[in-house]
Amino acid sequence: MKRSFFYIITASVCLLAVRCGSNQQPSATNHAPATDSQDIKLKTNSVILDTVTIMAGINGKGIGRFKNIQLTSPLDEKMVARGHVIYDSKCFACHKLTSELLVGPGWAGVTDRRKPEWIMNWITNTKVMLDRDLAAQADMVVCLIRMPSQDLTDKQARDVLEFMRKNDGKK
Ligand code: HEC
Repeated sequence: MKRSFFYIITASVCLLAVRCGSNQQPSATNHAPATDSQDIKLKTNSVILDTVTIMAGINGKGIGRFKNIQLTSPLDEKMVARGHVIYDSKCFACHKLTSELLVGPGWAGVTDRRKPEWIMNWITNTKVMLDRDLAAQADMVVCLIRMPSQDLTDKQARDVLEFMRKNDGKK
């Protein structure tokens, strides 16, 4: 039973790898509008990715210092603005704000896919998570490269999280 489950996950991840691998273009071409068929493919891929994540029961908090993050509402616009600056300088090269894959997964919906603790642990403890967290490993197989550690402080990571929430339409 466990074995067949493993095969299902591996097969789904391979499907995604095809898409992700073919999408690693230099940034000049990344602003071209996606065609309809590309769009459908992307939507299918993200449904598969979500299914795999949920099936594997790996939708947890990740590995690291952050066990319990209290989100606040309304959004803190100062944090959002600082997060945006960090995104522009350190994340933009690999992550789009839409659901489209670039080098890494697009950020649209990331705050629904992942718990805030997972995101914070991921940003501040990337290497350990890549070595040990199942969800992060699934992403890595999909994207074929490891996300380099970004050396953000906890405060900067929290600013980026607030920016991601804004990008996801949170209030
Ligand atoms: C050199 C490319 C690169 C840069 C720069 C980069 N990332 Fe990533 N990121 C990736 C890849 C690739 C993945 C998928 C996991 C993996 O393969 O390591 C990823 C995954 C993620 C994820 C998980 C997304 C999901 O849907 O599971 C988050 C969150 C993230 N990165 C945040 C950041 C932040 C914040 C920055 C900037 C401070 C950043 N990344 C900079 C390549 C990058």
